[in-house]
Order: sequence, then C-alpha cells, then structure tokens
Amino acid sequence: MPNAHITGWGMSVPDTILTNDDLSKMVDTNDAWIRERTGIRQRHIVRPGETASSLGLEASFKALEVANLAPTELDLIICSSSSPDYVFPATACLIQDRLGATKAGAFDILAACSGFIFAMNMAAQSIRSGAIKNALVIGTEAMSRYVNWQDRGTCILFGDGAGAFILQASETPGGVISAVMHSDGSGGDLLIIPASGSAMTPTEATVREGRHQIHMDGKEVYRFATKVMASATLEVLKKSNLSLDDIQWIVPHQANYRIIEAAARGLKLPIDRFIINLQDYGNTSTASIPIATVEAVQKGQIKPGNKIVFVGFGGGLTWGALSAEWTGPLTASSAHKIHPERYRVRARLRSIWHRIGRFIEGLIWGRGS
Ligand code: COA
Repeated sequence: MPNAHITGWGMSVPDTILTNDDLSKMVDTNDAWIRERTGIRQRHIVRPGETASSLGLEASFKALEVANLAPTELDLIICSSSSPDYVFPATACLIQDRLGATKAGAFDILAACSGFIFAMNMAAQSIRSGAIKNALVIGTEAMSRYVNWQDRGTCILFGDGAGAFILQASETPGGVISAVMHSDGSGGDLLIIPASGSAMTPTEATVREGRHQIHMDGKEVYRFATKVMASATLEVLKKSNLSLDDIQWIVPHQANYRIIEAAARGLKLPIDRFIINLQDYGNTSTASIPIATVEAVQKGQIKPGNKIVFVGFGGGLTWGALSAEWTGPLTASSAHKIHPERYRVRARLRSIWHRIGRFIEGLIWGRGS
C-alpha cells in the first residue's frame, strides 16, 4: 500500500491588516479585551477582487513549487471552504482552471473549520488505495465577507487566508498515518449563516436582518471546542498506535488561545508543544491549520521525521484529527521544474482556448436548438 506523503506546502494571506485597535473604532471593544479573551492581535482581510479562489490559487502555486510538482501532474484537487466564491461552480474548479491542472478532478467540501482535516483524510485515502498519485488539498477562506461588523461577539474572531498541501504517493515509510472525523448536526444552529442556501435564500428582508452573516453562540461553541480537542487528539493517537510522547507537535485549529490552553491542560502537555499563530491571523477557519503548519516549517519548528497531530473543530458541528510523519519533497530541489508564472500564463491561454472552442462548437451545433 503506498503512503501519502505531505511533500509541498504554501500559504497566502491578504496584505490588508485589521488590528484590534482598528476594530475598536468600529464596535464597542478594545485591544485588551480581545487579547485576553482570544489571544488575537490582528487579522488579514480581503480587499475587493480578492476571493477564496484567488488566495487558494497563490497558496497552491507555492505548495507545488515546494513539492517540485507540475500542475499537470495533479490527479485530484480538494478545496475546503465555508466562504467559497460561489455555491457552484466549486472553488476547486476555479483553482484547477487557473493552475492549468488539466487531468485533475476537482471538488469542494464543507466541514467548516474541520474541513482541512476531512479533505486531507479523503486525499490520503485516495492515494493509499492506489487510485491516484498526486493530490492538492486547499483550505481557503474569505470569511470577512460574511462577518457582521456590528456584532462584537464574532467580528473580532475571524480573518482571511489560505493554505495548501501537496500529497504524493510513495512506498517510503512516512506521511499520513491515521485520521478520525466526527459530526453532530444537532448543534448546527450554534454556528450558522442562516440565509445562505436552499433553506433560506437571501432576500432584501434577510439582508436587512443580517441573516446572510455569521451567527454564533460563542459560549456553547467554546464549551464544545474545549471538550473535543483533547478527545480527538487521543483518539487519533490510539488509532495510530502512538502515544503523546511520540508526538513532537500538535497543530490545532487556531480559534482562541484559551481553547488551545484548555486542550493542553486536558492532555497534560506544555503549551509549547502546540503550534500557535492565531495572534497574527485570527481564526481563518479551514485555512488555519495549514497556515500554522507552513509558518512552523518556515521557522524550522516542524522538521522531517517529526510526528504531528493536526486537530480541529467547527460548525456543523464537526471535529477531527489527523496524525502524520512530516517528510518533505520527494524530488530533489536541484531538478527544479516549477515556474508559476509560466503555468499561470499557459493556464490562462488554455482557459481562453477552451471558451473559444465551446463558442465555435455552439455555432456549429446551433445555439439553443
Ligand atoms: N469586546 C468587549 N467586550 C465584549 C466583547 C468584545 N468583543 N464581546 C463580548 N463582550 C462582553 C460581553 O458583553 C460580556 O459582558 P457582560 O459580562 O457585561 O455581560 C463579557 O464581555 C463577557 O462575554 P462572554 O460572551 O462571556 O465572553 P467569553 O469569555 O465567552 O468570550 C468569545 C467570547 C466569543 C471570545 C468566546 O466565547 C469564544 O471564543 N467562543 C468560541 C468561538 C469560536 O471559537 N468560534 C469559531 C469556531 S470554529
């Protein structure tokens, strides 16, 4: 059975930063409160024109560069997002087109902040079954588009950004070890955008009432999160035949410093075994785990051979954990073959060519007949 190695990683966040002080000019809050209750100091926010797909695309190109893998070699693209560009087409398809990943099947999943773990598990299973060799997994969010900037209970928490991993098949030991996924839809109303789908399509009235924005029961979500972070970590370790002593790092969903502290207490682990960067990005939902991982690799914290548990929770309710041995690129970087700019231009030309082809076909076969 081939192993699913994490061979590439990349992240992208918008340039625009919103600090706690900026927020205190918008709602009745202050820097001290936000820091003390959440640990967050600032978050990155999309500008007009930036979207989940544009952030996801940049993170993907970086991940492909690290893995030294051409977009045309991808078999599968899974994009996890709760703030996709559209209900459909899938954000994964938009990214597939702009990457020029000509042979990849591409689809989105939605499991809120646990989505990246669920998507990684799906991609790893596809590799381990022998069905595919190369997968791109993206977590990307433009959550600020759904934030109610008058609601101090939620607007202080969320930020925008994207992270991406490349998973590749190899017989060498390492890579994804095991995963657990859980859901409890009875808590769906605790974190919800009510007017966002077929249950309640947005209308003038729903917009007036702010139902197209994030609604959250912060206290209930907090209670749920503190319960499941430690339990999911222990569960995936058991399934992996590993103990906490075998693990160098835990990469938790970056929602709130106090939630991570509670998980550390529950696991009887020092807080410095957890990768934490929520102070700079806020809660970027499904993108938070890959963004925290990429930064930790860049800082030299996560190294080849390290065993890691990724653990997350979110709306749905959903929660899960995934264990992996960090390896790195399979191909020597001296054989460097990825030039994002060239792929970007080629993908654009190919996309235009496909559109022209469809137009000509339409003329030949008769439009609307
Ligand atoms: N600034 C200043 N004061 C605020 C505030 C803000 N942004 N938000 C709430 N307050 C006030 C409340 O009105 C309350 O005042 P009161 O005591 O006079 O009534 C007080 O601060 C405490 O509010 P409370 O809601 O109990 O705060 P909390 O400690 O539960 O923290 C959250 C609120 C949202 C930070 C916390 O509940 C949380 O992190 N929940 C989990 C959310 C989450 O992770 N969601 C994403 C899941 S993926």
